[in-house]
Amino acid sequence: MSKILLIGSGGRESAIAFKLRQSSKLTSLHVFPGNGGFPDNEILAANSFDLKDKSSVQSFIQKNEYDLVVVGPEDPLVDGIGDWLAEIGIPVFGPSAYCAQIEGSKEFAKALMIEAGVPTAKYASFTDYDSSLAYVRKEGAPIVVKADGLAAGKGVTVCTELSQAEQALKEIFLDHKFGKSGSRVVIEEFMDGQEASIFAISDGETYFTLPAAQDHKRAYDGDLGPNTGGMGAYCPAPIASEEVLQKVNTRVFQPMFEAFRKKGHPYKGLLYAGLMIDSKGEPKVVEFNCRFGDPETQCVLPMLEGDLLEIFMASAKGTLKGVKTGLRSGASTVVVLAAEGYPDSYAKNIPLNLPKSENKDLVVFHAGTSKKDGNLVSTGGRILGISSYGNDLKDSVDKAYAYLNSFQISKTFFRKDIAKKAL
Ligand code: AMP
Ligand code: GLY
Repeated sequence: MSKILLIGSGGRESAIAFKLRQSSKLTSLHVFPGNGGFPDNEILAANSFDLKDKSSVQSFIQKNEYDLVVVGPEDPLVDGIGDWLAEIGIPVFGPSAYCAQIEGSKEFAKALMIEAGVPTAKYASFTDYDSSLAYVRKEGAPIVVKADGLAAGKGVTVCTELSQAEQALKEIFLDHKFGKSGSRVVIEEFMDGQEASIFAISDGETYFTLPAAQDHKRAYDGDLGPNTGGMGAYCPAPIASEEVLQKVNTRVFQPMFEAFRKKGHPYKGLLYAGLMIDSKGEPKVVEFNCRFGDPETQCVLPMLEGDLLEIFMASAKGTLKGVKTGLRSGASTVVVLAAEGYPDSYAKNIPLNLPKSENKDLVVFHAGTSKKDGNLVSTGGRILGISSYGNDLKDSVDKAYAYLNSFQISKTFFRKDIAKKAL
């Protein structure tokens, strides 16, 4: 029986909690900091510990005798929470700080991919304005400029014109738009194709993959508007055919996990491959993340038949081999309800009166919500994820939109074309 601590506050953590609660092995679930969708008895007080402070994290978790800590977001992993908990003998789902560099440092990720022979865009990295500027002028457009380090997903500029690349470099080096993370820049060849997100869960030795999902990063229908954290996703994505998946396993996941082992740092936890799949079905890695993707997780996890608690525990303890991981047939979709203005400055404190859904295939995952005097209000840009399972993709998409169209909340919006490309 297990007492679990889940760290995080987004739609991703709501989806993880939803699956953990289905486990017969769960005795109690606590979440920190959580959101308005979690029952009060699961939410830890905001002053329980300081995520940035090793001894505060260690002493709280040790005192409360958790059997497993599940880390949702990347920041604490990059800071080293995986190592802090290993030191005190607490199993953790999530990689060590060394392994989390795969997301924390684009430079580290690129170097390891090249060492492992994993297909990815040609790149060069620079620490100063003049030489990076000379390089983009030599290479020309289209080209991609990425601020190294965590820039909350905002560090990437896909430049169709040379002038955009010049502007991006100015913002990084001269205007210090991304602060410290602007001290190094990775410049990449532009890759053409369709994107897919594939998650692999590993215990250091063995791994399995979850269904390939396709995210919708732009804010508005037709892939228009600014980049966001993701406005909706569906899975399985037909772009990732059996043949493509085979290539992803042999060319991406197997060599990456092998490379981590060779470094003496076996990768435990979730490795997220953001892939570009070209018209010939050849996959290349756009980026790796060291955690579940959001919103993809909100459609991927409802497809899992296996017991997520058992899987997380096995990943932490190195006993994944033989653990049941089965997947449901059919398809799953998530549509994000966002606050007007998102991803720029957006409305907050929007009262949320949500109708109950009788549909057992539909779940409303909370993201940027909180309870104020017992009433649910919005606090974030991405407010809810409407997740639905169906016999096929159309069925799942129809269910999500049937629910979303059954009510109206002012100052919110959602994309009407999630999964449209695959229907
Ligand atoms: P990221 O913030 O790293 O997820 O990147 C944001 C988006 O930029 C990705 O989802 C891709 O759509 C795009 N992108 C990043 N690198 C490349 C590349 N080398 N070629 C084409 N598109 C890219
Ligand atoms: N949905 C993209 C991400 O989680 O990074």
